[in-house]
Amino acid sequence: MSLRYRAVRGMRDLASEAAAELRRVEDQCIAAARAFGYEEIRLPLVESTDLFSRGIGEATDIVAKEMYVFDDRRGNSLALRPEGTAGCVRACIQQGLLHNRTQRLWYAGPMFRYERPQQGRYRQFDQFGAEIFGVGGPEADAELIQMVAAIWDGLGLRDAVRLEINALGSSASRAAYGEALVAYLAPYEDELDGDSRQRLRLNPLRILDSKVESTRRILEEAPNLADYLDASERAQFDTLRELLDSLGLLYRVNRRLVRGFDYYTHAVVEWVAEGIGSQDAVCAGGRYDGLIELFGGRPTPAAGFALGIDRVALLLREVADASAEASAACSAGALSYSAADVHVVMQDRKYMPAAMAAAQALRVRVPGLRVRMDAGGGGLSAQFRRADRSGACWAMIVGEDEIAQNRVSLKWLRANRPQVTASMDEVAAAIRESQAQD
Ligand code: HAM
Repeated sequence: MSLRYRAVRGMRDLASEAAAELRRVEDQCIAAARAFGYEEIRLPLVESTDLFSRGIGEATDIVAKEMYVFDDRRGNSLALRPEGTAGCVRACIQQGLLHNRTQRLWYAGPMFRYERPQQGRYRQFDQFGAEIFGVGGPEADAELIQMVAAIWDGLGLRDAVRLEINALGSSASRAAYGEALVAYLAPYEDELDGDSRQRLRLNPLRILDSKVESTRRILEEAPNLADYLDASERAQFDTLRELLDSLGLLYRVNRRLVRGFDYYTHAVVEWVAEGIGSQDAVCAGGRYDGLIELFGGRPTPAAGFALGIDRVALLLREVADASAEASAACSAGALSYSAADVHVVMQDRKYMPAAMAAAQALRVRVPGLRVRMDAGGGGLSAQFRRADRSGACWAMIVGEDEIAQNRVSLKWLRANRPQVTASMDEVAAAIRESQAQD
């Protein structure tokens, strides 16, 4: 069939199981944010282009190559947000959220970057982000790392990711290092890869990120960023490391970790996963003490991170594929996917009103239980086939006898247990008990 309309390249439709996977990651992130006392902020998808050019930096890849920019009807240049931090800072200043107080905020939603699409890299993707304002000490950086670790724990991914950290120092130390790096690399200019040659003039620190082998060899003898930090910057990074050590949070110091945004200062972090291909950064962030002042606010220390929900969902799937136990599980939190917990079947379509009433009675008795009416017609065997395909643990049966006795029947679809016919209260209790055992 030739399709008249297709989704735009790099932007995906995610239905059913794929959507449920993203929702699960997002729910876990939100639960962790709440547990750490972060409050939600909802932000526009569109901001003025200038906000990102100034905040992220004109010379960064995101601003120079990847933004979706358009003029509105009055000729104002607007951009689809490529990330959430700049908009969050703009909102905090505009709403006066930073006056004489600390602020802890989270947000979630789609971001847009015109990158080359591949597995784990999309032009529209979802991020969960958290930002903390007004805490200058490394305890804020540690708190953010601890929160991300709690998200991994909740998703069963702690062993699937590793944490890398680095210290960039103040913008002054970064600039001094940038000069030293350019002086070192200039004689090798012709041997650098094309991207790095361009960056040499515009954004030299990003060359440290290069994956090109010949460039990496040249970098082996390059000056070390750590040598350009002053004593207090070094002490601040050491305190962060001590904090992480005392919390039992494992990390590796990666002196090449620089991040693709101009707003970062001091500590930067990146969580990397194995097994999901080249797009392996699943969460990243750092401190950005100068951004609020740059946007016209009072100088305020700030730090944050953003987690790539699509990539974490991919990772979850990798881990689920690798774990044998996934298929047996029936509880809502299990890795295997099901569209519902209970599939309601009826002996005859004329019992539909009674079946719908029974389904609702069950939903009320077991909050959170997903009870789905059979749809599609046919006899009981066709309905049971659909129940089986839905992944539900139970079929609830409504027929002539059940209605006469004011009862329903419950059949276990994934366990070898006898069918029961009982009152709605007893059936609800049996389901709750079975869930508690899972
Ligand atoms: P970022 O490193 O650009 O940081 O993005 C954070 C995460 O978003 C990445 O680690 C990755 O998992 C995901 N991501 C980025 N681009 C794509 C893409 N094209 N497709 C799928 N996933 C992607 C930021 O955005 C900063 N605002 C983080 C931050 C918050 N720093 C301080 N506060």
